[in-house]
Amino acid sequence: MAVVSIINQKGGVAKTTTSVNIAASWSSTGRKVLLIDLDPQASATRSIFGEEEFEKTIFDVFINRLPPEEAVVRSKVFSIDVIPSEILLSGVDIQIAAHFGREKILKNKIDGIRKKYDAVIIDCAPSLGLLTINALMASRDIIIPICPEYFSLKGIELILETLKNLRIGLGHKVHVRGIVISRYRDRKIAKSTIDEIRQAYGLKIFESYIPDNIAVEEAHHKHLPVIDHAPLSGAAKAFHALAEETWA
Ligand SMILES: Nc1ncnc2c1ncn2[C@@H]1O[C@H](COP(=O)(O)OP(=O)(O)OP(=O)(O)O)[C@@H](O)[C@H]1O
Ligand SMILES: [Mg+2]
Repeated sequence: MAVVSIINQKGGVAKTTTSVNIAASWSSTGRKVLLIDLDPQASATRSIFGEEEFEKTIFDVFINRLPPEEAVVRSKVFSIDVIPSEILLSGVDIQIAAHFGREKILKNKIDGIRKKYDAVIIDCAPSLGLLTINALMASRDIIIPICPEYFSLKGIELILETLKNLRIGLGHKVHVRGIVISRYRDRKIAKSTIDEIRQAYGLKIFESYIPDNIAVEEAHHKHLPVIDHAPLSGAAKAFHALAEETWA
């Protein structure tokens, strides 16, 4: 059982797309998966459930001492459990800033519930603020999605720097499971960016690149995993393969 955070402080690099689709693909092969939406934008919650409102969310787990199992909702369509998010979560960084042990709130809360699952995936916000630090402290591994055409090496350096600070400052070691190449288009610039990453860091780059494919966007709008919305698409095949590669 592992807790895996999907992180990149850069916005729009397919963190949510990777989170919901890997969760669905892992579950399609019989694994019990919990997805925690830790982004105040609640994109994963919206992608899975549309406009459905939830009385209890991850906000209540952080702030109102709600046991996490009471915030869990089931998605039959994705065959996963989800702890949804809401916009109120955007104030949590400030609300917990003065708490003792503020970096370990999520870890302490989910330590009991995570044992019920084969995997817990945390969809992080595009920031390295206190919420993301909580995700990292609760995680054994991270997966970093990037879009090669909009990539900058500085982004990965900042993540690695944060991991180093956690190791030195808080004694918590996080393993980088690998980098997911998303919105891939067969262009020179994408290939040279991927080579650049390969040379700069000793990090694993998963071989299943997720192609830039309209089926991905459509699947979000239809509140379906890509593998169900367009099972024959290149993106669905890539997610099937990526799910196997990213399982560890
Ligand atoms: N492979 C793909 N093909 C086409 N569109 C994609 C693909 N991956 C992601 N997108 C689209 O790109 C946009 C950003 O994706 P997503 O929301 O997953 O990124 P994010 O990193 O979670 O963003 P944020 O930083 O705001 O949380 C969405 O509209 C999504 O549908
Ligand atoms: Mg997102």
